Amino acid sequence: MSDKLIKSIKGINDILPEDVEILQNLEKVIYNIANQYCISEIRLPLLEKTELFKRSIGIGSEIVEKEMYTFEDNNGELISLRPEGTASCVRCALENNLIYDRGIKKKKYWYHGPMFRYENPQRGRFRQFYQFGFEYFGFSNIDNDVELISLCKRLFISKLDLTNIKLHINSIGNKEDRVKYAETISTFLKKYKNDLNQIQKNTLVRNPMRLLDSKDKKIQNILTDLPKFINVMSDHSRVRFESILEKLDELKIKYYVDNSIVRGLDYYNDTVFEWKHSSLGSQDAVCAGGRYDELVKEIGGVSVPAMGFAFGVERLLDLIRDNKKLSYTRPRILLINISKENSYKYFLKFEELRDKYHAIKFYNYNVDENSSLRAALQFGSKNLNCKYAVIIGDSELSDNLYTLKEFHAKNEDKKISQNELDKILKDINNG
Ligand code: HAM
Repeated sequence: MSDKLIKSIKGINDILPEDVEILQNLEKVIYNIANQYCISEIRLPLLEKTELFKRSIGIGSEIVEKEMYTFEDNNGELISLRPEGTASCVRCALENNLIYDRGIKKKKYWYHGPMFRYENPQRGRFRQFYQFGFEYFGFSNIDNDVELISLCKRLFISKLDLTNIKLHINSIGNKEDRVKYAETISTFLKKYKNDLNQIQKNTLVRNPMRLLDSKDKKIQNILTDLPKFINVMSDHSRVRFESILEKLDELKIKYYVDNSIVRGLDYYNDTVFEWKHSSLGSQDAVCAGGRYDELVKEIGGVSVPAMGFAFGVERLLDLIRDNKKLSYTRPRILLINISKENSYKYFLKFEELRDKYHAIKFYNYNVDENSSLRAALQFGSKNLNCKYAVIIGDSELSDNLYTLKEFHAKNEDKKISQNELDKILKDINNG
């Protein structure tokens, strides 16, 4: 490869056609589920004022402090590529009176698209990555927490057949509860100060709760004796959490109460959850979300209860690549023109096939002085994985016939009539 080639940016990847086909099928599954729950799609911009993310995700958060792609536009205004979709969704809903207009409207939205974070790229962690996100506005009842989790279960387990995916759930109570629990953590860790490295000591000062989701085994061991959050939080949040767990039991949705789920974005309260898959290595969260009842007010609206989740497309893709249901693509037929006659009759015939058989993918291959029939057939068999090739030459055109080649079969090529071809294509089209 020439040194002159300009390569892509680290952590910002292309998505190649094989994966795009799987993603297109995944998108269909998601469109259907969103329709089943009456959730409307919303399309959000990639760029927002930096202030939006500072105010929502939090000034002290890692995302805002270190990971945003931020720059001044020509007008001197600070703008950022969105690191996530929730803040934009709230901003859009407020600006367009979608969730409040002389009264709270109960609304459900979903969105998808690329997000940008300047992280250290590694397996499952990129600088540009794609998310599908779902946000519910105006719902405070626990039934809606349960509905969102149930929707995830429908997608990951019922539709995508992921067997080893696990729901980790926790409650982080209200603001006062978190202040109280941060004190509990600081007091508890006093006697372990010498076991913490400098970064952990800084986290202990700035945001002790973030130590709970540390991947450091030593810290994890120390924290096993830490009093559980549920024993410190307000009665209201505790009862709320316990009721959600009861409903999940009733619905037979398996979960794991995980005190380490505290989330790195500042806007959450009460229910928080992540869906994790052990085969993904250290970046094992496929999906994450929770309740954020204060955020709408924080961004400038009235108080509207809200919650949502988002899942990372690249991480999910790693889990569904072998799923036959999603990798199934419409059957392909190679249409080869070997006619020397300078006419477009062959092309008209190929177009007629497309008019009749909408569910079949047809690929036109023109054999000319730069190619051969052999190369065309190899391309159809190896690159396109076609079932048949339909060949038209001068004799086929004059006799109104086609030559049919069946790939991966021992049959000889045969000349067939329009009726015979129609019969074969009809079966494939309806199959
Ligand atoms: P998050 O945990 O930052 O939450 O991201 C959600 C999901 O996006 C993660 O579980 C992961 O699958 C994927 N993800 C995040 N960062 C990366 C990355 N650098 N590379 C690849 N995948 C990544 C949020 O973004 C919240 N807005 C979710 C939410 C919606 N909460 C309420 N509503």
